[in-house]
Amino acid sequence: MLAEGYTPPPLVRAYRGERLETPPVWFMRQAGRSLPEYRELRVGTDMLDACLNPELASEITLQPVRRHGVDAGIFFSDIVIPVKLAGVDVRIVAGRGPVLEHPVRTAADVAALPVLDPAALAPIREAVALTVAQLGPAPLIGFAGAPYTLASYLVEGGPSKEQLKTRALMHSDPATWTALLSWCAGITGAFLAAQIESGASAGQLFDSWAGSLSLADYTAQVAPFSVRALEPVRELGVPLIHFGVGTGELLAAMRDIGVDAVGVDWRLPLDEAARRLGGDVTLQGNIDPALLHAPWPVLEAHVRDVIERGRAARAHVLNLGHGVPPDTDPTVLTRIVEFVHRDA
Ligand code: CP3
Repeated sequence: MLAEGYTPPPLVRAYRGERLETPPVWFMRQAGRSLPEYRELRVGTDMLDACLNPELASEITLQPVRRHGVDAGIFFSDIVIPVKLAGVDVRIVAGRGPVLEHPVRTAADVAALPVLDPAALAPIREAVALTVAQLGPAPLIGFAGAPYTLASYLVEGGPSKEQLKTRALMHSDPATWTALLSWCAGITGAFLAAQIESGASAGQLFDSWAGSLSLADYTAQVAPFSVRALEPVRELGVPLIHFGVGTGELLAAMRDIGVDAVGVDWRLPLDEAARRLGGDVTLQGNIDPALLHAPWPVLEAHVRDVIERGRAARAHVLNLGHGVPPDTDPTVLTRIVEFVHRDA
């Protein structure tokens, strides 16, 4: 229940459609290897073990908020955490990403996928509650992987550029595809709902690899399961954001699963994204991560341009077009936040 006279934080207001004088700013992958304090904390702890240690996950979430003064924290976890918590053998290999001991490719493989016990989400609930208690006024963003991106790791057995096996399965065995995507929707929806129930103020669905799909395949074979993943979350009433990489052709379909904001990568200028989407959605993005390595005047001009083009949307949340690269100088991120808060 909201207290009378309560004003939500700028980030939440922008997602809901309010145009603010300066856009709220946060960065995808703001927690992680770009921060020396993160690398120090992580010494000797496996990535997924760190995600399941509530004190550690909470501290890692808070690090970039303290350092950069961003307008939100994003919960430190990973899209494959619900897969692991269901009991599937998945690891994260540094420099590569999630890898499965046994890829999931046949009807029998899918039928053998374990049921996620809701009690297994306890460390996630605890970490979120701990984080929200320490964040101060900044809201926490919860997140989850969309069923397609999650399924691509299960089928390929690891990261993959074009997800050929995944897309072949989609067309060659529709019943297995439906069963697999339904399983992914169930666990990932439960993961996101747990974060929001524990105090997260918004939820972002990452369909990072949806850009490999044709619009027809996305609409018929993928979007219905993303809708299903968000079912347990909708009734919780927080704004929802939907993001993918290389999804310029899919933006309207990604909005149409029913979200408040759409994340845009660096390939599509925000004014063009706004033209494609019309006025009833907030845009998030889309500083080119490559320019984090450019001299400051070049980066500053780019940030100004992103903000200017973002004015074509009903509201704008400034972010990168994809995650912070691990070799980024974190002082550059702080400088962007200071610039936006003071001068933009
Ligand atoms: O700050 C934040 O954004 C929160 C943390 C976060 C992580 N993963 C932590 C992480 C978030 C939001 C994710 C989501 C995620 N994980 C996505 C969707 C976002 C995207 O980038 O498109 C995807 C595709 C994954 C799968 C995954 N996990 C990849 C591709 C990698 C990188 C592998 C590598 O080493 O380059 C991971 C591991 C991972 N997840 C790291 C972090 C900080 C790096 C591992 C480490 O620090 O040892």
